[in-house]
Amino acid sequence: MKKSALELREVTKIFQKGREVVRAVDTVNLTVEQGELVTFLGPSGCGKTTTLRMVAGFELPTGGSITIQGKDMTNTPVNKREIGFVFQNYALFPHMSVFNNVAYGLKSRGEKDAEIRPKVIEALKLVGLQNTENRYPSQLSGGEQQRVALARVIVMEPNLLLMDEPLSNLDAKLRLHMRTEIRKIQKKLGITCLYVTHDQSEALTMADRIVVMNKGKVEQIGTPFEIYSNPQSLFVADFIGHANIVKLEIASLSQESITAKIPGGTSFTAKALKPDVYSATEVLYHVGKSAALIVRPESIQVGAAQEGEGIFPATVVSSIFVGSHIEYELLLKNNATIHASVPFSTGMEIYGEEASVSLTFDEQNSAFLPA
Ligand SMILES: Nc1ncnc2c1ncn2[C@@H]1O[C@H](COP(=O)(O)OP(=O)(O)OP(=O)(O)O)[C@@H](O)[C@H]1O
Ligand SMILES: [Mg+2]
Repeated sequence: MKKSALELREVTKIFQKGREVVRAVDTVNLTVEQGELVTFLGPSGCGKTTTLRMVAGFELPTGGSITIQGKDMTNTPVNKREIGFVFQNYALFPHMSVFNNVAYGLKSRGEKDAEIRPKVIEALKLVGLQNTENRYPSQLSGGEQQRVALARVIVMEPNLLLMDEPLSNLDAKLRLHMRTEIRKIQKKLGITCLYVTHDQSEALTMADRIVVMNKGKVEQIGTPFEIYSNPQSLFVADFIGHANIVKLEIASLSQESITAKIPGGTSFTAKALKPDVYSATEVLYHVGKSAALIVRPESIQVGAAQEGEGIFPATVVSSIFVGSHIEYELLLKNNATIHASVPFSTGMEIYGEEASVSLTFDEQNSAFLPA
């Protein structure tokens, strides 16, 4: 059987803060294949850094096991794990040239100068910094320094590359650039990578798979597409892409879909998501009870008030023109707030405050979860 690059089994970390017990990481299971880039996404304090620190060996788990390339490393010291770590504060040695910064790890590993030189040159080329080896960190831009930090790690040819918010000190434009750069390098080297970020667009664009964490637990693991289009919990739906979540009364049920009552209107049908693959629709949802409709701001059309099947009557609370889009805040007849993001085109009508409008939700991009 092919060995996974990394396997976490029931990994748990409990911190004792005075009398308070914090389950920072709670029975996390994860298998990462060779060459995969897996991003960790979740709110502050959900356990992302602690998970990475345990994989690196800076922190020992309270329970569970960590296997790297088929070997149990749960209690192996940091320096025996062959792991590269890039932090948010990537602190290069300021008094050393770029060359010596990148060569540092190889030297401390006892490699000979003749072997080191070509490796350092190659690593710098890979991050697009050829011919900078004689400069000092202070003579580089923020993005260039971050790339040196990356070169310093990949030159060691680690089994695993761990990155904890590596771009959060860079400005917005540079972040966008660096995320594609990192992804390119990671793919080219085929290196397995765990990448922690707060930024969901970073997580969505870079990842082969995303781990969404909440309060120390894994909420969902999936490809960016799965996470976005098939959230398994209201937390994931809300956290990724800021979906609208509206409670509606169920009018009827079928195996695959739910028809719900529209407040002050007709009815709306969309697919029923089943968080647990073994649960039947009838167990999760009940006619006459609520289900949570999940609809993304970009899957809503805003039009002139009219009646008709599937139309949600609404009132405009605010509309903001942001150039490419109009961002609407709207109120349904049950006082639920809806956010809609409508692409702007010349000549289109923009509805102002207190206007009565009709909303239509794209059925293909709407779904119900248990409320
Ligand atoms: N050394 C420690 N001692 C006690 N509690 C800790 C320690 N390290 C982390 N924690 C707690 O464990 C929880 C998870 O922390 P962690 O740093 O893993 O979160 P995070 O997801 O990386 O958050 P952020 O996005 O803010 O970086 C938090 O409640 C934190 O306060
Ligand atoms: Mg953190």
